[in-house]
Amino acid sequence: MFMSAQPLFIFPTGDSQVDAQHDELDTCIERLFAAKTVMTSTLCAMSLYQRVREHFFCEAKLMRKHSYPAIEAHLYHHEELISQLNAVARNMAIEPWNKAGLELFIAELTHDHIGTHDKQLAVFLSQEAASPQSKSK
Ligand SMILES: [Fe+2]
Ligand SMILES: [Fe+2]
Repeated sequence: MFMSAQPLFIFPTGDSQVDAQHDELDTCIERLFAAKTVMTSTLCAMSLYQRVREHFFCEAKLMRKHSYPAIEAHLYHHEELISQLNAVARNMAIEPWNKAGLELFIAELTHDHIGTHDKQLAVFLSQEAASPQSKSK
């Protein structure tokens, strides 16, 4: 029913809540790909919807806490993904078997966002953690 889930390597940010949320999103997407009925896939999609929103909120807090320099571009991409997700949720209510929009959203979330923007954030946070100034804070 879905394209197969592609293996996803998620760079750890060092923040336990955000890292746990990335793992949960990954599990949620795997469940969605494995769903065999409209009911299961709808429930999984609803759970993904909720988790993505919560996760973006926590990640924004983390970026602000660390004065992340690329925060604007990162938050802009979060907003784009939320708009896309809202459109997917509307379409699923009308056409539950039409998964093209949802697949596109997942590809964008995993590869274009987690694999790019979140990876850059993780690299920044790991460099910050390793710098002598952060240890003296
Ligand atoms: Fe993000
Ligand atoms: Fe993220």
